[in-house]
Amino acid sequence: MFTFKDYYDNVVKLSFEREPFSKYPKHVWVICRYKDQWLLTRHKRRGVEFPGGKVEEGEVAHEAAKREVLEETGGIVKNLHYIGQYSVSGKGGTIVKNIYFAEIEKVEAQPTYYETNGPVLFSKLPNDFSGYQYSFMMKDEVLPNSLKRIEELSLYA
Ligand code: GTP
Repeated sequence: MFTFKDYYDNVVKLSFEREPFSKYPKHVWVICRYKDQWLLTRHKRRGVEFPGGKVEEGEVAHEAAKREVLEETGGIVKNLHYIGQYSVSGKGGTIVKNIYFAEIEKVEAQPTYYETNGPVLFSKLPNDFSGYQYSFMMKDEVLPNSLKRIEELSLYA
């Protein structure tokens, strides 16, 4: 398990075990690969980030993951792999989020992208996410560790 501080100084615990912090996480985050590119979204307030959000009433986490990818990018998930889970503890309490890796079959234009401006594709991810155009979610150790894990598992060519 890794423990570190996030962009807002909240304590993050990250693990690649099977749902160590909660069997019913209320949040999901999805690292998406479309053909040979990374598929992200541009959140209207937070900036560029991988898609994700809250698990809705009556949904389980992996269903929320597919829905959020579609809503925020138009991506249709072909394969979804559980990667890990993290908790973030701050003044307002603790949230638990599942991390997935998704292979995207196709990207279809949507009538609305909700709180985002829709899909953003990168052939190579930037080395530095510190710029204002990137979401705080891209700025802590969750992303590099998850990308390393995805690479170790050889989840894409
Ligand atoms: P909305 O209800 O969507 O407006 O979001 P919120 O910020 O009010 O609440 P949410 O339950 O999504 O998150 C609560 C807090 O947890 C956020 O303000 C962040 O500080 C933190 N948080 C949520 N997701 C993440 C994440 O992926 N990484 C980190 N480091 N913190 C997160």
